[in-house]
Amino acid sequence: VNNEEQAILDAYQWLVKLYHHLLRHSKDGKKALEYLYDRGFSDEAIDQFQIGYSPTSRDFIAQFLEKKGFHKQVMANAGLLTAGNEGNYYDRFQARVIFPIRNHLGKTIGFVGRTITDQEPKYLNSPESSLFKKSKLLYNFDLARSEIRKKGAVILFEGSADVIAAHQAGVMNGVASLGTSLTESHTSLLRRYVDTVLLCYDGDDAGQNATYKAIQLFKKVGCNIKVAALPHNYDPDQYIQEYGSDKFREQVIGTADTEMVFLMKYLKKNFNLKLEGDRLQYVERVIGEIAQLESSIERDHYIRELAEEFNLAYDALSQELKSRIRNIK
Ligand code: CTP
Ligand code: MN
Ligand code: MN
Ligand code: MN
Ligand code: MN
Repeated sequence: VNNEEQAILDAYQWLVKLYHHLLRHSKDGKKALEYLYDRGFSDEAIDQFQIGYSPTSRDFIAQFLEKKGFHKQVMANAGLLTAGNEGNYYDRFQARVIFPIRNHLGKTIGFVGRTITDQEPKYLNSPESSLFKKSKLLYNFDLARSEIRKKGAVILFEGSADVIAAHQAGVMNGVASLGTSLTESHTSLLRRYVDTVLLCYDGDDAGQNATYKAIQLFKKVGCNIKVAALPHNYDPDQYIQEYGSDKFREQVIGTADTEMVFLMKYLKKNFNLKLEGDRLQYVERVIGEIAQLESSIERDHYIRELAEEFNLAYDALSQELKSRIRNIK
């Protein structure tokens, strides 16, 4: 780290403490604390994840950082302040719940700020910098690492709120990519620790599309993939709040779909299975996916299932599968 990066690390360290203090003890922070309680966050989790609150002020943080002797333009580069056009600086995060983003060493290098007053955008992140690279970072990796290694499995969520809710529910091997899609540096990092990845994205269309993409990336690094099936339009954090920790562990984490079951459900949405032509196209598409499975036992299992579901001849589907496999090799 160079001098500027060190100053940024120091500033983040101060602000984690300050924001957390303001959440806990300021009058303005009370509504943020209530917001967090309403969403089911416990005091323990608020402290452990060092959640904070950035006050409703144009320059509270700007003045604080100035008093501490930080260079304002450097703080603007770090995304803590915003430069105005008359050489003035004001606070980037205003009236937001602050989730500190830690790197693998546990040092805070960015913030995710969620509005509690319906500002746009709903989530405001620190900008990309040499310290804060979203394509490489996974939220909570530092705390989850030992559990990930122990279990040989990681659970991937969409958002920090989901990771924290899962943690409270006793599921400690969760991480999240930060509002960006997954990258090859995420998957190759995780591959060094695990054989199995459980995808637990939101149960809306965006989440399901992201799951499909994540599967393609994890296949490349040879992970065994499972997919948690949430009820339509639920996200993990909502599910836990509504149905509780036990149900989340048993019904969502414990009974995840295999990759192929997810793919079949997912692909089905693009076809009108009442039409014969669509049905056949769907079957061909699924055979293409089955052909990519490593295990011949699994391939046979899904071919049988497909034959049964659509009342087709097992032998015919088997033949088709064989020729697809030849084409892959
Ligand atoms: N996110 C982000 N930047 C955005 C939008 C989302 O970083 N502009 C991240 C946040 O960490 C968020 C996650 O992506 O938690 C998932 O986004 P989304 O599912 O839309 O969040 P919600 O579940 O809708 O958020 P909330 O529950 O707080 O309403
Ligand atoms: Mn979402
Ligand atoms: Mn949303
Ligand atoms: Mn949510
Ligand atoms: Mn969500």
